[in-house]
Amino acid sequence: MLTLNIIGPGRLGKSIARLAAPNYQIAGVCASSLASSREAVAFIGAGQACATFADLPSADLFLLAVPDAMIAGMAIELVASGVVQAGNVVFHASGASEATLLLPLKAAGAYIASLHPAFSFADPARAVSTFAGTLCALEGDIEACDTLHDFALALGGVPFTLAKGGKAAYHASLTMAANFLVTLADLSIKTAQQAGISDEIAQSLVMNLMQQTLENIKVLGPAAALTGPIVRGDQSTVDKHLRVLNNTTRRCYQSLGQATVNLAGDQLSEAQQLAFTQLFS
Ligand SMILES: NC(=O)c1ccc[n+]([C@@H]2O[C@H](COP(=O)([O-])OP(=O)(O)OC[C@H]3O[C@@H](n4cnc5c(N)ncnc54)[C@H](OP(=O)(O)O)[C@@H]3O)[C@@H](O)[C@H]2O)c1
Repeated sequence: MLTLNIIGPGRLGKSIARLAAPNYQIAGVCASSLASSREAVAFIGAGQACATFADLPSADLFLLAVPDAMIAGMAIELVASGVVQAGNVVFHASGASEATLLLPLKAAGAYIASLHPAFSFADPARAVSTFAGTLCALEGDIEACDTLHDFALALGGVPFTLAKGGKAAYHASLTMAANFLVTLADLSIKTAQQAGISDEIAQSLVMNLMQQTLENIKVLGPAAALTGPIVRGDQSTVDKHLRVLNNTTRRCYQSLGQATVNLAGDQLSEAQQLAFTQLFS
């Protein structure tokens, strides 16, 4: 059985450790204090609580699950502690940063990677019971990615590998999908309220349509799921919309409108595409 050290047993670290525990031996668990390392060990149900890196036992895998801004500094401290041996796999879980944050560990002969589960670990107890099927993005040294592919499967996750240098595009995609959907819902609800619709009805109106549309995208893909005035080539309706929107919402409508024209592609004639491009510029 491979052994795993957890540095930073916070929301993600302790959840991953508990999910790994049936198939990996949890060796050391190191938080910012011995008391909090002990609390994490109690949650995980395995492992030895450590006060410092120097107390960590040797292990095959090291998960650095500290806040993103601390990862690079911790990598340097970990090298200095001498606990990492040649051939060990050291990985972090940041969605935005590459494995190269761990570059100093290469000097110790370690293989480095990042493993990012596209999942919210807000509540670790709930996270462990709902994690199954989570997509896990891998990136870094091939040797480390191979080991972490099996690790992600053992957690119940679904691993996939990013192209070299692909982390920023990967994270931008998740940000657009998760955060901009919220912004779009907010702008849509406020625009509905301009029509004298109550808050409650406006929210239901927008949510119901968004949910229906998400289902359509899942089944049909984005291009075939497209409905509405743009794909129908109805410029006069779009012109009416633009006249009632405030500045911020109109700019969003125009940017997304142009992207929608591009997505509709040859469902629109060249003349229709040109007319929309003029409306949206
Ligand atoms: N949370 C999520 O939903 C989620 C999802 C995907 C990826 N991630 C990534 O996972 C990583 C961890 O995020 P998180 O949300 O789990 O953070 P978190 O809940 O804030 O946990 C951070 C952990 O780092 C520990 N720590 C801080 N300073 C330390 C030190 N000097 N020595 C040792 N341990 C130290 C903390 O110790 P104490 O327990 O003593 O405070 C805590 O256990 C980040 O890279 C994040 O981007 C998180």
